[in-house]
Amino acid sequence: LASVEFDLTKVAEGQQVTIKWRGKPLFIRNRTGAEIARAVKDDGASMPDPQKDEDRHKPGKAQWLVLVGTCTHLGCVPTFGGGDYGGWFCPCHGSHYDVSGRIRKGPAPKNLAVPEYSFLSDTKVKVG
Ligand code: FES
Repeated sequence: LASVEFDLTKVAEGQQVTIKWRGKPLFIRNRTGAEIARAVKDDGASMPDPQKDEDRHKPGKAQWLVLVGTCTHLGCVPTFGGGDYGGWFCPCHGSHYDVSGRIRKGPAPKNLAVPEYSFLSDTKVKVG
């Protein structure tokens, strides 16, 4: 299966880029300190698919979130900056994901998936 390399210098802090990977959108987000703090603060909150923020990024790379950009309900593409939790919102049936990509409200059963990926250097990741 195809893997893809991506140059992280293309994503400014507080921005995200969507690339295509195995026919699916992939979100690569450079989180701000405030976004990370908000995600960590919610680690203990009640949620449908409980996961700590630190388990959704690579160690020491909290700013980088790499997520499969399809809603775990029926596969629409959620948009960033909407919803009640400061993260992604899926307009199809109203699923709210937080800044860690965890599902917090709505019909989606699972968090946005984290694909298999690794850092080739500080500025390059390989997905898949
Ligand atoms: Fe996203 Fe239904 S596909 S809420």
